[in-house]
Amino acid sequence: MASQLLSAAGNHVSLPEIYVRPESQRPRLHDVINDVNIPVIDLGSPDRQQIVAQVADACRSFGFFQVVNHGVAVDSMEKMMEVASEFFHLPPEEKAKYYSDDPTKKMKLSTSFNIRKESVRNWRDYLRLHCYPLEEFVAGWPSNPASFKEVVSAYCREVRQLGFRLLGAISLSLELEEDYLEKMFGEQEQHMAVNYYPKCPDPELTYGLPAHTDPNVLTILLQDPNVTGLQVLKDGRWIAVRPLPNALVVNIADQLQALSNGRIKSVWHRAVVNSDRERISVASFLCPGNSVVISPPEKLVGGDGCPAIYTSYTYEEYYDKFWSTTLDEHCLDFFKR
Ligand code: OGA
Ligand code: NI
Repeated sequence: MASQLLSAAGNHVSLPEIYVRPESQRPRLHDVINDVNIPVIDLGSPDRQQIVAQVADACRSFGFFQVVNHGVAVDSMEKMMEVASEFFHLPPEEKAKYYSDDPTKKMKLSTSFNIRKESVRNWRDYLRLHCYPLEEFVAGWPSNPASFKEVVSAYCREVRQLGFRLLGAISLSLELEEDYLEKMFGEQEQHMAVNYYPKCPDPELTYGLPAHTDPNVLTILLQDPNVTGLQVLKDGRWIAVRPLPNALVVNIADQLQALSNGRIKSVWHRAVVNSDRERISVASFLCPGNSVVISPPEKLVGGDGCPAIYTSYTYEEYYDKFWSTTLDEHCLDFFKR
């Protein structure tokens, strides 16, 4: 029911019980590190070798980095954020048309993560879209706001190009041919989650999104330049990712961990909420095609004492498993040898 949406209700004065985490699972916002920055990589630099070295370093140390001069037009990013905000501020009866809690639907407005399986909810509504090939999916996207399809399509195209550039640099950083990962993952699918985190009456008791890793290959996140919320786990501590003007956040996701035989890591991250300001983020997920078999290249197996960590599987098997688990389990662990 669309009445489940946070954005269908007015301002919340107190946190409903169903969002309250047990004490041991709360975000402990005082323990979060605010003065460490994740690496920032200037993709506009003429020194490509240096970019590859920085990507290699960032993938191994944090699994997360921000990119600037990334080729996605600032205008596209701003329009994407505007249209996302307009969408979530549509009247409830308009949003109700798009609501579903079926995890397999290719276009849906939903809430939390997977309310059919959760006992505690997350303080988030989200719009989920499939974005590649665009011609196949755009007709089914929201037609309100009127500019939605055009703005989101343009943004998706640009982000896809950036994704391939990054895969090129990551391939080189693993000492593979530049086009290895792009070819390996086949005609890559592209999904989007437009996340809406309303103001929350009690941010210490709940999450926008609890700790998770992303199931896909690579994620590119556009976030509100003025509100922090994303946090990344490093050496057992949560680090707040401060938004940088015009930057995009990139994270390694599960399939790159599997394909690199664990050399680069899919990093745990979470989104917290706050009581003063709502927050919007737009996550673009590059995903392998469903039938692609995920298995590391020979070069990354054996040799220096690195036997294969994971079994071979298709992305379809992985993705089905992901949606049948809860976010606190690391789906990759189910595929260990
Ligand atoms: C996601 C995600 C973080 C954020 O959508 O997978 O991690 O800051 N989002 O919204
Ligand atoms: Ni994520």
